[in-house]
Amino acid sequence: MAAQKQPTVGSLAEEYVRRDAEAISPSLTRIYPFVMDHGRGSLVWDVNGQQFIDFTAGIAVTSTGHSHPEVVQAIQDQAAKFIHMSGTDFYYTVQVELAEKLDSLMPGSEPKQAFFTNSGTEAVEAAFKLARYATGRTRMIAFIGAFHGRSMGALSLTASKYVHRKGFAPLVPGVTHVSYGYCYRCAYNLEYPSCDVYCVKYIEDTLFKRFVPAAEVAAIFVEPIQGEGGYVVPPPPYHQRLRELADKYGILRVDDEIQAGMGRTGKMFAIEHWGVVPDILCLAKGIASGMPLGAIVAKKRWMTWPPGAHASTFGGNPVSCAAALATLRLLEGGYVENAAQMGERFMERLRRMEANHPSIGDVRGLGLMVAVELVKNRNSKEPAVDLRAAVVQKCFEKGLLILGCGMSTVRFMPALNITADVVDEGLGIFEQALIEAENAAYRVLRE
Ligand SMILES: Cc1ncc(COP(=O)(O)O)c(C=O)c1O
Repeated sequence: MAAQKQPTVGSLAEEYVRRDAEAISPSLTRIYPFVMDHGRGSLVWDVNGQQFIDFTAGIAVTSTGHSHPEVVQAIQDQAAKFIHMSGTDFYYTVQVELAEKLDSLMPGSEPKQAFFTNSGTEAVEAAFKLARYATGRTRMIAFIGAFHGRSMGALSLTASKYVHRKGFAPLVPGVTHVSYGYCYRCAYNLEYPSCDVYCVKYIEDTLFKRFVPAAEVAAIFVEPIQGEGGYVVPPPPYHQRLRELADKYGILRVDDEIQAGMGRTGKMFAIEHWGVVPDILCLAKGIASGMPLGAIVAKKRWMTWPPGAHASTFGGNPVSCAAALATLRLLEGGYVENAAQMGERFMERLRRMEANHPSIGDVRGLGLMVAVELVKNRNSKEPAVDLRAAVVQKCFEKGLLILGCGMSTVRFMPALNITADVVDEGLGIFEQALIEAENAAYRVLRE
């Protein structure tokens, strides 16, 4: 692999980055100039012909790798039959088959029903509306650090980065944010397990007693593992405690598995690690290997809304549904299991790196939802924001695509069928980038 992959001036990639800047909204968040040409599995090539290892899977989307032949075949077969008919007004087989499959996969023995959207954000919007409709209540509880999307309802639940909200108020009223079970940076300066999961108790003891009447709360929106917030894995009793709280007050539990779901954590749905049953499950990203599709799957008893109450022209597009059915066959056929195994490989190697790199403050994750949080000092835990930026950039220059999340975390979210040799090669590049970025940071400190 070439040592330096930054596009050179005058190259095709450099030209498209320049044209993009003229033609496309500046609100997108590109951090390095990767201009995709094609991809296979966990490898991608840019338009300059440079090969990269992809630890991003297009932000946790290409669950079966880039252009898996079985997914491509399913897309081609469906496209040749018909591309669109709108599941809102008409019936077609793949939408029904996919709904049946998702209903059967969602945890819990009660009957379920599905509703299809085009994106994760729209799945969250659908869950927001359904929770209000089904309970007749208006308020929502969500979490600091949460990312649920950027349309007005979803944005009202999002509390991840200032830039997502700045300039867009007023948002949908009635959403209260509380601290997540982020033990590495506990908002209450407590330690698990002696804290007895105070972050959940706070909702009942403070919120419900002082300023948020529980009887007005329709739903608690929660990511089983916070994604954009930093790949934060909450402690073992956390989700069960939230479930009990919701049950006690007749509140729905909406699990946003848009990033954590579809096998990524080594189980089909991340919440299965905690043995908890949600009322509504939000899905998207990895569900169709990259074809645009989102869904909510809910206990049937909550699907009380009448015809016309909610629908979408494109939601449940037949080509996307066909891709999702092929994706699910592959996930169940071994890729979820592979995610669990490769996730352990990531964790082992990253834990070894942690021992040698004081800038790694925390290593965490489940399956192929893995992260390292970089800090300036292990005692103060001050986020190493610049170091993270330097590491991500250096990885790109060396031929590895990674992305950040949270304040100073690097996340690893490759395709679920990634192989051990690609994991090892990518992590080798990551460690080299970390060494160089650390050395550069120490040089600046010494000067
Ligand atoms: C947990 C979670 N919910 C919702 C969304 C929004 O999904 P989309 O970008 O498909 O609208 C995201 C996207 O990153 C997400 O990670």
